[in-house]
Amino acid sequence: MTTFHEQLEETADRVTVALDALIPRADGPESRVISAMRYAALGGGKRLRPFFALECGRLFDMDERSLLRAAAALECVHTYSLIHDDLPCMDDDDLRRGRPTVHKAYDEGTAVLAGDALLTLAFEILSHPDTHGAAHVRCELVSRLALASGARGMVGGQMIDLDAAEHDEPDIHIVTRMQRMKTGALIAYAAEIGPVMARADEDDRQALAGFAHDLGLAYQIADDLLDAEGEADRVGKAVGKDTGLGKATFVSILGTEKAREQARMLAEQAKSHLDPFGSRAEALRDAVDFVLDRSN
Ligand code: IPE
Ligand code: IPE
Ligand code: MG
Ligand code: MG
Ligand code: MG
Repeated sequence: MTTFHEQLEETADRVTVALDALIPRADGPESRVISAMRYAALGGGKRLRPFFALECGRLFDMDERSLLRAAAALECVHTYSLIHDDLPCMDDDDLRRGRPTVHKAYDEGTAVLAGDALLTLAFEILSHPDTHGAAHVRCELVSRLALASGARGMVGGQMIDLDAAEHDEPDIHIVTRMQRMKTGALIAYAAEIGPVMARADEDDRQALAGFAHDLGLAYQIADDLLDAEGEADRVGKAVGKDTGLGKATFVSILGTEKAREQARMLAEQAKSHLDPFGSRAEALRDAVDFVLDRSN
C-alpha cells in the first residue's frame, strides 16, 4: 500500500515533469524571462492544488492526461501569485520554497514578467485541444480559472490583504472574505476541474464546492499558523512576517489556539462534504489532514 506521502510525492513529480514539458525552453534573446519561469515553477512546492485537482477528477474517472494539464495550468497561476506576492511592493520576501525568491535570483522586472508569463501560459495550456476534446469544456475551464484568479478571486484577496495591513482593527468578516479570495479561490478551482470535465451533476458539484470552501479557509489558517510558529528552515520561507507587517489574519484576530481550533473544525467540515464519494475520496481526506499538520 502506498502511503499518502508517497502518493503526494509521486503527484508532485508528475506535475513537475508536466510543467517542464509545458514551459518553453530558455533560449533566444528573451531567455531570461523563461529561465525565471522555470526557476519558479520547477523549484519545489508541495503541489497540493494539483493533487486536489487530480484526486477530484479521479472521482469522475476523468482522463489522467487531461487532468494533469489542467492541474499544471492551475499550478502556473499559483506560482505566478507567489512570485508577485514576494515582490518588495507586496510582502518583500527573500526566501521561497527554500531558495531565493525570483526577484532576488533575477531582478524585479524579470520577476514581474515571469509572473505575467506564467499566468498567460495557464490559459494557453487550458485552451489547447490536448486538455479536452470539447471546446465548450475548455472554454469553461478557461473562464472559471480567469474568475478564480482575478479581481473577484485571488487578486481581489491580495488587494484586501494589502489594505487590511493599513487598518488597526481587522474585522473577522473581512479577513474571512480575504482568505476565501486570496487562497480559497484557486483551491476551489482545483475542485471544479473534474466536475467541469465530467459534466458532473449538481449534487456532486455542490459537495466538492463545499469541500473546497472549507479546505481553502483551513489552508490559509494553517499557513498563518506556520508564519506565527514555524521555523524558516523547515517552512522554506521567512516566518514572523505577518506580525511584522501588521497583517490581518485569523491568528492575529483569534490568537494561535482559537485559530488552530477553527482550522480543525473547518477540516472536519471539509471531510464531511466528501461523504457521498465514500472510500474513493480517501486520498482527499488524507490530504486535508496533511494540510492541517504540515510543517512546511
Ligand atoms: C503558499 O501556498 C501560499 C498560500 C496561498 C497559503 P503553498 O503552501 O501551497 O505553497 P507551495 O506551493 O507548497 O510552495
Ligand atoms: C499569499 O498569502 C497568498 C497568495 C495569493 C499568493 P501569503 O502572503 O500568506 O503567502 P506566503 O506566506 O507568502 O506563502
Ligand atoms: Mg501575502
Ligand atoms: Mg507572502
Ligand atoms: Mg503566509
